[in-house]
Amino acid sequence: MLEGRLISFLRKAKTLPQQLRSCTARVHSRGLPPASGPASAASKASAAPLQRWGSLYGFRSLTKGLLGQPARKMTTSASVTTFGKSEVSSEGLKLLVSEGSAARKKVGIWLFGCSAWVFSLVVLGGITRLTRSGLSMTDWKFTGRLPPLSEDEWKLEFEKYQQSPEYKRVNRGMSVEEFKFIYWMEYAHRMWGRGLGIVFVLPFTYFLAKGFIRRPLGLRLSGLFALGAGQGLVGWWMVKSGLEEPLSEYVQPRVSPYRLAAHLTSAFVIYCGLLWTALSVVMPDPPAGNLNWVHEAAKVRKLVLPVSVIVGITAVSGAFVAGNDAGHAYNTFPKMGDSWIPDDIFSMEPLLRNCFENTSTVQLNHRILASTSLLSVGGLWLATRKIDMHPAIQSLIRSTLGMAALQVTLGISTLLSYVPVTLASAHQAGALTLLSLVILLAHTVRKPSPALLRSLASFPKCGS
Ligand code: HEM
Repeated sequence: MLEGRLISFLRKAKTLPQQLRSCTARVHSRGLPPASGPASAASKASAAPLQRWGSLYGFRSLTKGLLGQPARKMTTSASVTTFGKSEVSSEGLKLLVSEGSAARKKVGIWLFGCSAWVFSLVVLGGITRLTRSGLSMTDWKFTGRLPPLSEDEWKLEFEKYQQSPEYKRVNRGMSVEEFKFIYWMEYAHRMWGRGLGIVFVLPFTYFLAKGFIRRPLGLRLSGLFALGAGQGLVGWWMVKSGLEEPLSEYVQPRVSPYRLAAHLTSAFVIYCGLLWTALSVVMPDPPAGNLNWVHEAAKVRKLVLPVSVIVGITAVSGAFVAGNDAGHAYNTFPKMGDSWIPDDIFSMEPLLRNCFENTSTVQLNHRILASTSLLSVGGLWLATRKIDMHPAIQSLIRSTLGMAALQVTLGISTLLSYVPVTLASAHQAGALTLLSLVILLAHTVRKPSPALLRSLASFPKCGS
């Protein structure tokens, strides 16, 4: 959903430079200062439809940030890249896609589509786990296979499941109809993953054949494809651990928390990699505005990097909460039971094991990291709110803070209500949304190309 809005935003933003250039030209031809007088009114009028668009779609503050500035100050990445693509490229702007802006748009839409697919795949995987459906298919083929098509085939499949420890210890007495539900969940998750493979590979081959994909992009996408193919293997490696008989007869069978964390973390990496690449394709340069804003953005960049790392680590720690079913312990907040820190957080040997396998420690770590994430995003907002920077960056910082607060609220609600599927999935989707905003923010404050810097340095002269 976020990607859909982003694509619409970027598509509309592409027309912005032309409008702004014409406004600026009108302003200059009348010899008036660009930010006031009738020319300014004309400028505002020509930007009005876009502002209306901005209020229709979600990224209102971001578009307002881009549109609400005097025309003279507005130099966006798009405006630079539309000045003769090949010249800009040879001046130092590293375009990932050749053959012009139409090709860039197609490749961008494809990559945003792929990241949206991964987003939905992660959420579907979460629902599969939360409905305890993940261990229903007891074998795996890389290429996949058809589901059972007759009652006899369903019976056969069910008999295989009945041999698994999960059936024997948790689901004994389950009916074939109940089995069909958990089977379909797991089947859908696996097939959705394979579908991504097709949606990725076919257009990739087409764009390669058309000569759109430049070498650095080709290498990056090949790496992401390898990670995606490996993700299927990691998924099966994870499921296999849940099909093994647990060591103690009192323990419920469940997948290894390490393997679950590896599977989820790898999904996060693929998602963030695709999103970053899609943004780099459609926005080869960050929105800059003027040289002062570029200098200020450099200060923000130094703060955004550690904040991104903290949010990323918090997300990975969430994978351990999920893997250890730690959300079913200490369903109280802010205290954990009657104490702030449970007594048994160091009960395992060696001590480091507690961080990954001890339910109490895993949940405590997640609480601490989540609070640190919220505080660090809040700190970023406080530290930068007085800085004169591009309004798009300001909007993104505010959105990230809002999302971090919502994510913490969702996390606490999930815990207090004993991890219902709806809230837990919303919390998982929230983690991905927060990561998306952090990626978007980091992408927006990255260093501009020498071409953009040169263009900004010469821009004021145009008005004189
Ligand atoms: C910035 C804040 C947070 C982030 C980025 C975050 C991220 C995550 C992630 C990625 C998961 C794994 C989701 C899954 O695979 O199902 C998770 C699980 C969980 N988180 Fe958070 N979380 C945050 C805050 C919190 C807070 C404040 C709490 C409550 C104190 C909390 C409680 C939980 C619980 C109970 C689960 C396990 C849910 C399940 O079993 O599916 N989270 N979190």
